[in-house]
Amino acid sequence: MSINYKEETKIFTLETRQATYQMQIGKFGHLFHVYYGNKIGKAEVDYLVRGADAGFSGNCYEAYLEDERTYSLDEFKQEYPTFGSADFRSSCLAVEYQNGSQTTELRYKTHRIYKGKYALQGLPAMWGSEEEWETLEITLLDAHYPVEVTLLYGVLPEYDIITRAVKITNHMNDKIILNRALSTCVDLQDHAYDLLSFYGKHNMERSLMRRPICHGKQAVDSVRGTSSHQQNPFAILCDHTATEDCGNCYGFSFVYSGNFLAEVEVDQYEQTRMVMGIHPTGFRYTVESGDTFTAPEVVCAYSRDGLGTLSRNYHKAFRNHLVKSQFAKKRRPILINNWEATTFDFNEDKLLAIAKEAKELGVEMLVMDDGWFGKRNNDMSGLGDWFVNTKKLPQGVKGIAEKVNQLDMEFGIWVEPEMVNEDSDLYRTHPDWCFQIPTRKGVYSRAQLVLDMGRQEVRDYLFTAIGAVLDSANIAYVKWDMNRHLTDVWSGNLPAERQGEVYHRYVLGLYELVDRFVTKYPQILFEGCSGGGGRFDAGWLYYMPQSWCSDDTDAIERIHIQHGTSFGYPVSAMGSHVSVAPNQQTGRFTPLHTRGVVAMAGTFGYELDITHMTNEEKELVKEQIKEFKYHYDTIQYGDYYRLTNPEENNRYAAWQFVSEDKKKSLLSVVILHATANAAFLTIKAKGLQAERVYHIAELDITTTGAALMYAGIPIPREKGDYIAFNFTIEEMV
Ligand code: GLA
Repeated sequence: MSINYKEETKIFTLETRQATYQMQIGKFGHLFHVYYGNKIGKAEVDYLVRGADAGFSGNCYEAYLEDERTYSLDEFKQEYPTFGSADFRSSCLAVEYQNGSQTTELRYKTHRIYKGKYALQGLPAMWGSEEEWETLEITLLDAHYPVEVTLLYGVLPEYDIITRAVKITNHMNDKIILNRALSTCVDLQDHAYDLLSFYGKHNMERSLMRRPICHGKQAVDSVRGTSSHQQNPFAILCDHTATEDCGNCYGFSFVYSGNFLAEVEVDQYEQTRMVMGIHPTGFRYTVESGDTFTAPEVVCAYSRDGLGTLSRNYHKAFRNHLVKSQFAKKRRPILINNWEATTFDFNEDKLLAIAKEAKELGVEMLVMDDGWFGKRNNDMSGLGDWFVNTKKLPQGVKGIAEKVNQLDMEFGIWVEPEMVNEDSDLYRTHPDWCFQIPTRKGVYSRAQLVLDMGRQEVRDYLFTAIGAVLDSANIAYVKWDMNRHLTDVWSGNLPAERQGEVYHRYVLGLYELVDRFVTKYPQILFEGCSGGGGRFDAGWLYYMPQSWCSDDTDAIERIHIQHGTSFGYPVSAMGSHVSVAPNQQTGRFTPLHTRGVVAMAGTFGYELDITHMTNEEKELVKEQIKEFKYHYDTIQYGDYYRLTNPEENNRYAAWQFVSEDKKKSLLSVVILHATANAAFLTIKAKGLQAERVYHIAELDITTTGAALMYAGIPIPREKGDYIAFNFTIEEMV
């Protein structure tokens, strides 16, 4: 049993392999957080629920009657703090009632413990069997109005995961308005933590930022309508001293692809509060009498063994219990995408020439990117018109797919369903289908507008139009792009007082549409994309097993992007390709070998005009493909170790994959900065079995795992810019 409730002490205890999570129903029915951290066995530590008679920290009515001035919601750690009563810290819930009041105070009503994992209607969430998961539902009730809040806890002991979600049900006769409905609150005892967040921009997503938390609030958020390039909906709190291999770490991953807020606050008693959920800015949701609002899931993870273990737990948990696609466990093809080779300027012949050449070298799929539909010769027009451009593809999508299949290659396409250009048949027919406020000229971004995904007729059109293309040809892969953020968010479908629902309804509608596609076409490999990695989140990962990591394909920049991404997401989720040098985004020249080494720490593929390669380069491509295939299982399903932090170490970067049985490993190194008369470089491996004997093929070294982990691996002293090495480490049999 991983969930336990003891009636005498009114304590709930959740246990995972390494962690204990404890809460208690307080004397007057409030639900207090007690402890979250390293496992403490059967101990109940409710002595940690302490209050002081502090000025300006008020007491609930019952406490006042008994003159219990040490019972204050402003001081106790809480499970789901609400706005308006005594807790002045960041709150999770703000309900507006018909009389305009905005105060809610929740008390315990009942609870339920059951085997298996709860699901959330219309929202992505982790899943699994009754043997693997246990669920706790605690229902709280407002002290004055029949508004019920059910806190959901899913416990997955194997990977030290506790998921949280919330259901808010209105049992009043009147409607209520939610001005704030966050998904989780975790209150920690002290404040000796660093916050790790992942910031960025288009072409440089998920850069690691680490800073100590301090009094006041520190927010990581997005109000861009999507999870965004600029901040990722994933954050970590860890000990100041935590490293890859030691220290307490708490991860928070939001399973949602829209506006989000992750807020850390150090309070007056130097306790730390982390709240996470849908961003309250622009959010105002009406819940009618009898209806329920569901706040999306947050996946909390704990590691006492540092950041490496925390990440590996997320990787395994997401691969095994989040990604719905059969491709979570299925070999994915090595693809070539034509975008950086041709942009919009292609036709069937050009694509087939690329495919033929790529096939010779071992590539398994051709992906036809943007420009195959409507009037789409640049980014000014065509979005929304999901019918083939026969000038470019005379025999349609079917024709080119057949020809690619004849080469014994699979075929994939690009779509951007959520968008429309003004210059399109779709816009001309349905100008009201996109976000535009009738009284103002709105914002254009990449010359496009955003369709209102909350509207059923919009989703039906997209499902029918894009579905017809998918039905028309043998399509094995779809890249689902999204190339601007949301502005002028207003829906012609909703009355004025419900406009605060549009952002969330956009995400719900989008999820419904994506779900229809992935359910109808399970054999298609879907790759997410949003101008690269602008929608790289756990919500999207539920539907699509991989997402294009970044439009920045420069190998050196990608080391930073993939490093940051790896904290919260598995390598199997990172779309990563070898592109041309000099790189189109940075102008940097890196050797083809180095580009291969970096792209192999992802789903691997090519994105360049392969017909322009020299014979020598083509030979190298052949070798890369062989090498990637050789290591496929270790890379995609093995354990991932970050051996350096490129934000701190500008001399070299290194990372490593170790197969689950620890028999095989791939260790990669890239020299970031060549120096004259360079110091000898030795890199210590991780994750091997100390007593086993391993052989490193490229160095012809045979020694124990202990030697490779503690004495290290000697890196050859070669000259040149951005040199890279792959070391194949295998157990001797
Ligand atoms: C986005 C994607 C690119 C490419 C273009 C096409 O920027 O990230 O990979 O598909 O759109 O317009």
